[in-house]
Amino acid sequence: MSSPNRQKKIMCIGAGYVGGPTMAVIAAQCPDYRVTVVDINESRVRAWNSESLPIYEPGLHETVKKARGRNLFFTTELDSNIRDADIIFVSVNTPTKTFGEGAGKAADLQYWEQTARKIVEASESDKIVVEKSTLPVRTARAMERILNANEKGIHFEVVSNPEFLAEGTAIADLLNPDRVLIGSHDTDSGRRACGEIVDIFAHWVSEEKIITSNIWSAELSKLTANAFLAQRISSINSISALCEKTEADISQVACAMGMDKRIGNKFLKASVGFGGSCFKKDILNLVYICEHYGLVEVARYWRSVVDINEYQEHRFFQTMVRVMFNTVAGKRIALFGFAFKADTGDTRESPAIYIARRLLEENAVVVVTDPRALDNARKDLAPYNGAVEYVSDPCTAAKGAHAIAVLTEWEEYARLDYAKIYQTMVHPSFIFDGRNILDHRRLHALGFNVFPTGKPSLKHF
Ligand code: NAD
Ligand code: UGA
Repeated sequence: MSSPNRQKKIMCIGAGYVGGPTMAVIAAQCPDYRVTVVDINESRVRAWNSESLPIYEPGLHETVKKARGRNLFFTTELDSNIRDADIIFVSVNTPTKTFGEGAGKAADLQYWEQTARKIVEASESDKIVVEKSTLPVRTARAMERILNANEKGIHFEVVSNPEFLAEGTAIADLLNPDRVLIGSHDTDSGRRACGEIVDIFAHWVSEEKIITSNIWSAELSKLTANAFLAQRISSINSISALCEKTEADISQVACAMGMDKRIGNKFLKASVGFGGSCFKKDILNLVYICEHYGLVEVARYWRSVVDINEYQEHRFFQTMVRVMFNTVAGKRIALFGFAFKADTGDTRESPAIYIARRLLEENAVVVVTDPRALDNARKDLAPYNGAVEYVSDPCTAAKGAHAIAVLTEWEEYARLDYAKIYQTMVHPSFIFDGRNILDHRRLHALGFNVFPTGKPSLKHF
């Protein structure tokens, strides 16, 4: 049902993990706005228009269905949609640069800049351009220079509205955010643009949760929020190593610490390491920016968060090889989970990639199982084609295996019949729990040698 009095036309460039769900929620919550999501990736757009969406997120399909064809549209047509839009969200990828100056640290802003140039080229009227992607602090300055260098007399007002959703809970996070942050310039047009973005979110987010700031603070808040979250994981993971040496239990330590309200109990789960497309990229970006401003000590401090994460992944792999009599060559090893966290099929920067590669280099026979991420796992391990088995049923994956390594905290892995699984495995059998989701005592009683993360191991030898 299309309404003749839709006042505002919103467009989003980039139909990825952020652009797709964010615009679906805006469209579902704001039937008075027309929302068009544009991407250069044709197959992705086709999938957004189909029954089989390009990403898995609980509640996403229902949200898309509510608005698609009504006031939510997915297309590859950029020019006319740019021309018609009042507000353009830009949510393209900003990965770590892999070449030239800043390679391995700085953000690669080429997709971002291409988008800005396309906006200038196709626009015929003033527009608000919203930074939705995560960007280095002061990117808005460059964006404004490119946009406002036009000779058509068009004014582009750049606003920063970073996204804080987490994958696996994207829809819940968007519907009930801790806060919505909008950064703008302290000028008349800046304040007006900020008001326009506030109006969108005010459809469903309460006033006190919509906060405004200057544009640089908004850009930097996003990088810093990710750095702090990741820093908590590296902190707890560093202590997990000490727990393994001292018979302390990381869950008990985290519980005791987390009950202090000043510390809080979130993001204190020790693990095989954090993954995902953003934590590492955003911290390295922060490190690069600090180095750029000559803040060497600050850069070194944040770099250590990534270093500890790499250490944790490596430690997990080393423990596997060490306790399995210093060799895994020819041994079948089932990896339970390949996604970087539960409830997503995303495997970007998943610790599972590192663990799988290292095991394959040791000539292990790697079997990967995951309820949502097998397609991505196949792509990630493509160079090892033929050496890896992909199995959807975890019990089948474990059949004939020497070891199971739990790498993603899928709930269903805690509910498997491990007594049965044990019978089908090679003995002695090992379980390495990189997520601490299993009942370790019970597994030990069944006959397994159990190696949790940050807890005493339970062995039969
Ligand atoms: P993504 O790779 O899933 O999606 C980006 C999309 O942009 C791709 O589909 C790509 O084809 C498209 N694109 C690139 N250049 C384009 C162009 N010139 N024109 C049209 N489309 C173009 O990335 P993502 O995970 O959605 O992340 C996007 C941004 O949001 C990043 O800056 C990221 O740091 C940030 N972010 C991501 C998350 C997350 O959970 N994934 C959360 C918060 C913020
Ligand atoms: C993270 C942030 O939580 C979001 O706020 C942010 O918007 C997003 O990055 C982004 O900018 O991309 P996401 O990476 O999707 O979201 O998922 P998280 O829940 O943060 O988990 C990241 C990684 O840390 C996962 O591998 C997870 O398993 C791991 N983790 C998380 C732990 O090892 N321990 C914990 O206690 C929490």
